[in-house]
Amino acid sequence: MTSRIIGTGSYMPAQIVTNDDLAKVVDTSDEWIAGRTGIRQRRIAVGESACGMATEAARRALESAGIDPEELDLILVGTTSADHCFPSAACEVQGEIGAVNASAFDVSAACSGFLFAMNTMQAFIQSGMYRTGLVIGVDCLSKLIDWKDRGTCVLFGDGAGAAVLQASDTGICHTMMRSDGTKWRVLSCVSRTNGNLLNRKTPELGYLYMDGQEVFKFAVKRVPECIDQVLKESGTAVEEVKYFVLHQANYRIIESVAKRLKQPMDKFPMNMERYGNTSAATIPVLLDELNRSGKLNFGDKIVLSGFGAGLTWGATLLEW
Ligand code: UT7
Repeated sequence: MTSRIIGTGSYMPAQIVTNDDLAKVVDTSDEWIAGRTGIRQRRIAVGESACGMATEAARRALESAGIDPEELDLILVGTTSADHCFPSAACEVQGEIGAVNASAFDVSAACSGFLFAMNTMQAFIQSGMYRTGLVIGVDCLSKLIDWKDRGTCVLFGDGAGAAVLQASDTGICHTMMRSDGTKWRVLSCVSRTNGNLLNRKTPELGYLYMDGQEVFKFAVKRVPECIDQVLKESGTAVEEVKYFVLHQANYRIIESVAKRLKQPMDKFPMNMERYGNTSAATIPVLLDELNRSGKLNFGDKIVLSGFGAGLTWGATLLEW
């Protein structure tokens, strides 16, 4: 028994912010941003909330799967930028879509959030505990960014993607997830706090901090390693894989992974040019685009791989 993806959906905010728009507020240029990252524009949530984006992506995924919300046993949301400290974004989405028979909670693994949530869903379904689940990756990092810091503000965008998983004989073949908590500082964001009665702390602003070069070095080492591992452990040759759907942070990271795996770039679809790095949403949004454009056929072998704050990283091999 395993689980398979039976439907996908995504939602991107309406407002487009181009590199030229950003060059008006910080000392940067389209040439620098596109040349170093591959990003040309991103979507920024103005009227949309994280829960609203996740809910819309979820509705589209359920429609594509052809199932009713009442059939869901479990809802997992990978996010680090939910609208509320509590309850979970997953419970908010559950309420919005009317998934009255599900339990729901969030998975906090930053940009690896969707992958970690999907692998967790797979474990629940494989164990026989649940049959049908909804996995969402949503982030709204625009509200955590210091818009005066050109080193980070040009990189990220907002959005949501979702997938419905169901018990099946074929589908997810192999998964791996890893973390290195000794490196948590290289990509982090302080929780906003008001202090308390006794310590009277001054409220801190929780801006996102990133040591870009450390994260870059980590990604180009760990991503090919974990992909190699899932392929080896499942007895799959790298040539058998049709697409590598990787976290969309930087095209140079993806080029480096392709080189290390000795695979052609056309096996590595990308959309960071249009959306930037949407954190937990990048993988399900790209998967939804591939699915809706008819590029995925039954039995195709696909590798998903995410990496991000924690540090966290992982890979999943599945048959479409
Ligand atoms: O999903 C989370 C995972 N995050 C990532 O995967 C990010 C991984 N890291 C990266 O993608 C890259 O490290 C960045 C794109 C963030 C930065 O690229 P880089 O080639 O590592 O640049 P750098 O940080 O070494 O900066 C080079 C120069 C610096 O100027 P000096 O010191 O050489 O004069 C920076 O101040 O570029 C400058 N710089 C900029 N210039 C124009 C930094 N940001 C900008 C900017 N526009 N936006």
